[in-house]
Amino acid sequence: MENLLTGLEMTQQEALDLIALGKDLKANPTKYAQALAGKSVVTLFEKQSLRTRVTFDIGIHKLGGHAVYLDQANGEMGQREDVKDFAANISRWADCIVARVYDHKTILEMNKYSSVPVINSLCDLYHPCQAMADFMTLSQNYDDVSQVKLAYIGDGNNVTHSLFIAGAILGATVTAVCPIGHSPDAQILKKAEALAAKSGATITVTNNIEDIKGYDVVYGDTWLSMGDDTPLEQIKEKFMPYQINQELLDATGIQHILHCQPAHRGLDITSDVMDGPASLIFDQAENRMHIQNAIMLTLMKGK
Ligand code: CP
Ligand code: NVA
Repeated sequence: MENLLTGLEMTQQEALDLIALGKDLKANPTKYAQALAGKSVVTLFEKQSLRTRVTFDIGIHKLGGHAVYLDQANGEMGQREDVKDFAANISRWADCIVARVYDHKTILEMNKYSSVPVINSLCDLYHPCQAMADFMTLSQNYDDVSQVKLAYIGDGNNVTHSLFIAGAILGATVTAVCPIGHSPDAQILKKAEALAAKSGATITVTNNIEDIKGYDVVYGDTWLSMGDDTPLEQIKEKFMPYQINQELLDATGIQHILHCQPAHRGLDITSDVMDGPASLIFDQAENRMHIQNAIMLTLMKGK
């Protein structure tokens, strides 16, 4: 595993190793206090962020490394200078590039011209760091993540795709329950299904909430992703039946809730359940830091 661009780079063993390392980093922080000493990581963001920006910055600091943050003031990649030159320059100074971009092609271009590992910290199609933090969180609550039945509910988006890929690699059951017209990308679904055929995972898409009765975990995200300018009023009525609320937990028997955040209380999730006993949402946000540290250590090892 040289980079983390889509999640498809990981073997099952590599995914399990990342989760194990993430848990060890969380449990034994002093052991890793100098693990990135002398290393610099450029974290660049075309889009807004709270969790990703802060967890990479603080996470790198906790490993004794140095983070250089490039914000949205640099504008969309490729405008001031070619992505190719951006990647070639940064590679001469930094040991790793973490990038949040609008278009997945930008990540691919960056990776092509980078001589250091590239980590996708969200694009239009994938959010692999998120999905790995999510499965790390599940592995803290369930003995065997391959036995977990996870229902993603809402818009079929970058987070859905990464949950499909990580779930398929790890052998889990992941069902996306999406309103009609908001299903995940068909090609990414196919790739996840192909992986699932090997691992024993089950990857499905449905519009029907009845299909997730008896599942363990429900997972939510914003109904409108960054870069989608659709007015909320235009989709609200269609998405309200897909809200995570007590009624949904009662109807399905689901025990745990995940949400990548930002959450929109009263829309994609109600406050009572977000703050209630079923919620693992803030553990999940904390785990972003630990799994990302595991990813960086793994990709920079021996370099
Ligand atoms: N979940 C997540 O990536 O949050 P941010 O957009 O705040 O980084
Ligand atoms: N699907 C959301 C995830 C935010 C972390 C978005 O892309 O905006």
